[in-house]
Amino acid sequence: MLTRARTVTLNPLNDLMRRYQERVDTALAQFLPSKELTPKQLHDAMHYAVLGGGKRIRPVLAYTTAECLGANLADVDAAACAVELIHCYSLVHDDLPAMDDDDLRRGRPTCHKVYGDAMALLAGDALQCFAIEILSHGDLDQNQALVRLQMIATISSASGSTGMAGGQAIDLSAVGKHLTIEQLEQMHRLKTGALIEASVTVGALAANCNQATMNGLKTYAQCIGLAFQIRDDLLDIESDTETLGKPQGSDQAQDKPTYPSLLGIQGARDMAQQMHKHALKALEPLGDHVDPLRWLSSYIVERCS
Ligand code: IPE
Ligand code: IPE
Ligand code: MG
Ligand code: MG
Ligand code: MG
Repeated sequence: MLTRARTVTLNPLNDLMRRYQERVDTALAQFLPSKELTPKQLHDAMHYAVLGGGKRIRPVLAYTTAECLGANLADVDAAACAVELIHCYSLVHDDLPAMDDDDLRRGRPTCHKVYGDAMALLAGDALQCFAIEILSHGDLDQNQALVRLQMIATISSASGSTGMAGGQAIDLSAVGKHLTIEQLEQMHRLKTGALIEASVTVGALAANCNQATMNGLKTYAQCIGLAFQIRDDLLDIESDTETLGKPQGSDQAQDKPTYPSLLGIQGARDMAQQMHKHALKALEPLGDHVDPLRWLSSYIVERCS
């Protein structure tokens, strides 16, 4: 019998994402306080908001950056969990009636639909503190302690009034208004870009990289961070609720300024591609070993959910 060599199609990005998603899921489940702890409802709401869904793109970026630069993944676990915890808290608050008033997230009823607005607020608050708490834990030597401090500074400033929370404030005050493209860009860079930049930065900090590498990575991260939110805006129009796991058309229903509303669908797509190109350019001096970051940039502008 003739044996034929089988062609095995490998998608290195899928494998890489699955590996890091599993790693962060395991770490998050271990870190989170038990649901049996008092107050049980609050801990239950925290578990609900964090576990069971999500692309985990921020931890994936932190792990990928760290591994490309030769760091030990165990030195990134706390930071990878911290960026995801902050992200999950931002989603819980983003969905509240006082913000985007959405009922579906990651294919399930939103946290406030299950636990009520007040408990969802508190779950968000607690997740935010918990992110910083896990970063400050551990038996660390002096060098590791310094790196952890830098990670805390990076993640907290990316989450606060000059980062995610600031961007969300601009978003809320922009409802029904016309923004210039510069204002829209600033809003997106803050509400979404800042935490994505922080995710790459913590990976680079774990690897103790030099300043030139850090600068290149930051530029890369700012570009993919903006591209990520442009793609999110496009998916809100082009995709469907089942695929997204969140309500399609939410931006239009609330008259939010978005890239497609300002530049049209093709204009927004072009802008995302331009950001992808800039991201690749920023990685040029870093060589082939950062290829996984290049794949992630492509994924971000092409993703379907
Ligand atoms: C949604 O983020 C909110 C934005 C910042 C655009 P993600 O698209 O990363 O949501 P999950 O974590 O995969 O659910
Ligand atoms: C949210 O932007 C950004 C956050 C900081 C959570 P969106 O409001 O567009 O995110 P989705 O579409 O609800 O996930
Ligand atoms: Mg929002
Ligand atoms: Mg929203
Ligand atoms: Mg959106």
